[in-house]
Amino acid sequence: MYPFIKHLWTGSRANCWDLHSLAVAPAYQNRGYGRQLVKWGLEQAEREGVAASVLSAEGKERFYQRCGFVDVVGRATDGVGNPLAGRVRGGAILFRDPEDEDRERVIEVSGGDGDL
Ligand SMILES: CC(C)(COP(=O)(O)OP(=O)(O)OC[C@H]1O[C@@H](n2cnc3c(N)ncnc32)[C@H](O)[C@@H]1OP(=O)(O)O)[C@@H](O)C(=O)NCCC(=O)NCCS
Repeated sequence: MYPFIKHLWTGSRANCWDLHSLAVAPAYQNRGYGRQLVKWGLEQAEREGVAASVLSAEGKERFYQRCGFVDVVGRATDGVGNPLAGRVRGGAILFRDPEDEDRERVIEVSGGDGDL
């Protein structure tokens, strides 16, 4: 998968905090804990003046947007010959850049190839 999307982590986004494996136990979801965990990661990126990124599970894109990720820049399934194309759902890749502090936080996720 990585060769198909690694170009997204270049230029001003080459050095960034990438969020992995976020989960809140079902009994504790929707109480703000997920947001707090994302906030911690975004604060590390802000402190260092670098971008933050996340590869979203299906249906979690708006959660990340509510937490401050702004741009949906691609999908894990992108690229000609990507073996994940048509096999996985979700996989939107979102970024928050240092200059996003003043930007509108919630931006609609584009339809893409319909796998959101
Ligand atoms: C995704 C997950 C971490 C969210 O954690 P959480 O503690 O339930 O979320 P929070 O209570 O902090 O929610 C923060 C905000 O996002 C919203 N939100 C939460 N899940 C959402 C979803 N699936 N879609 C849209 N909005 C969502 C909440 O309503 C809340 O909105 P607010 O701005 O109005 O307050 C949790 O649902 C989870 O562990 N899911 C299973 C594992 C998973 O899919 N992880 C993601 C891997 S990429």
